Amino acid sequence: MTLLIYGAYGYTGELVAEEAVDRDLDVVVAGRDEVRTRHLGDRLGCDYRVFPVDGAAADLADVDAVLNCAGPFVRTYRPLVEACLETGTHYLDITGELTVFEAIAERDREAEKAGVCLLPGVGFDVVPTDCLAGHLHDRHPTATHLQLGIDATTTVSKGTLASMIEHIDSSGKVRRDGEIVDVPIAHRSRRIDFGRGERNAVTVPWGDVSTAYYTTGIENVEVYAAMPVVAETALKVGRLVTPLLAMEPIKGALQTVARTAIDGPTAGQRERGRCHVWGEATDGERTVTSRLETPETYALTVDAATTAAERVIEEGPIGFETPAAAFTPEFVLELEGVEGFFDE
Ligand SMILES: NC(=O)c1ccc[n+]([C@@H]2O[C@H](COP(=O)([O-])OP(=O)(O)OC[C@H]3O[C@@H](n4cnc5c(N)ncnc54)[C@H](OP(=O)(O)O)[C@@H]3O)[C@@H](O)[C@H]2O)c1
Repeated sequence: MTLLIYGAYGYTGELVAEEAVDRDLDVVVAGRDEVRTRHLGDRLGCDYRVFPVDGAAADLADVDAVLNCAGPFVRTYRPLVEACLETGTHYLDITGELTVFEAIAERDREAEKAGVCLLPGVGFDVVPTDCLAGHLHDRHPTATHLQLGIDATTTVSKGTLASMIEHIDSSGKVRRDGEIVDVPIAHRSRRIDFGRGERNAVTVPWGDVSTAYYTTGIENVEVYAAMPVVAETALKVGRLVTPLLAMEPIKGALQTVARTAIDGPTAGQRERGRCHVWGEATDGERTVTSRLETPETYALTVDAATTAAERVIEEGPIGFETPAAAFTPEFVLELEGVEGFFDE
């Protein structure tokens, strides 16, 4: 059973490829740059393929699953998903981009017809929060409102920063009555106890606004990120320059700076970092709260993405899936260093 890792010479892709080889999976590393892909294949002692995302089908016919680590995913998911549907290959990625989740969810029927699984979001975004959402729904099946929160102080990689810049001009987003609606950036804030005292947290348009609905059917979803009040104020002031940032030359320049000036977390930072995830589900009468503590975001991403790919290849779920829907909410507890669920 062959797993092709696309974007494998990027910061996260390389860590995932190393982990997959360590686990003795039959790995093919792939990317668009000949020299970097070949060097990685040689270093890891596995096959390599060089191809752009457009017209990928010829390179996927003999692989069982693709794990796409090439982001911003809004620029790579479509041709790879289409090639996977054409060739009957399972597709996974580590996106956290809301628009990408929504677009892939729309391909559910096609995936069922092709007999493949489309499973985006098998990184830190959204595995812990999605599993927490599923767990809260199991505890409170009649809940109508779900809030999820993430407290993850970490260094980001250049690709993550480039992906954040890609969507810098998008508004805030929440789910209301089943629909994703635009709201101002940093629309709401509240105090959240992530398990080590209350912190300020602010609404963010992250992936769970999309995925939590598919996992739980709960029609009202808000996602919060812990941040100091000063950062919240900066986000609100930043609304004034959003139209400027939407201009392609400015966005492109910011991405170039991100790609040259940033390194991802060091091995030590990945080993030592801890993150806290919180969720609350209510029907207005009864409220339940649960928490998780996880390893650092990139460390968890490497474990979650590799484990998800192994399970998709072994179990072959079909159609569009979220991590908790594909593997049950307990999936996150299989990952090394995850503690929880802590229920109230
Ligand atoms: N879900 C999560 O929690 C999570 C965790 C970690 C990372 N991520 C996401 O994963 C993505 C990668 O992160 P990273 O840290 O690995 O970034 P990175 O070091 O910049 O690597 C990005 C990789 O994607 C490739 N790539 C980008 N655009 C491409 C395109 N249009 N066609 C073909 N290849 C393309 C790059 O190749 P070139 O160098 O040739 O451009 C490179 O191999 C980011 O979007 C990041 O936000 C998500």
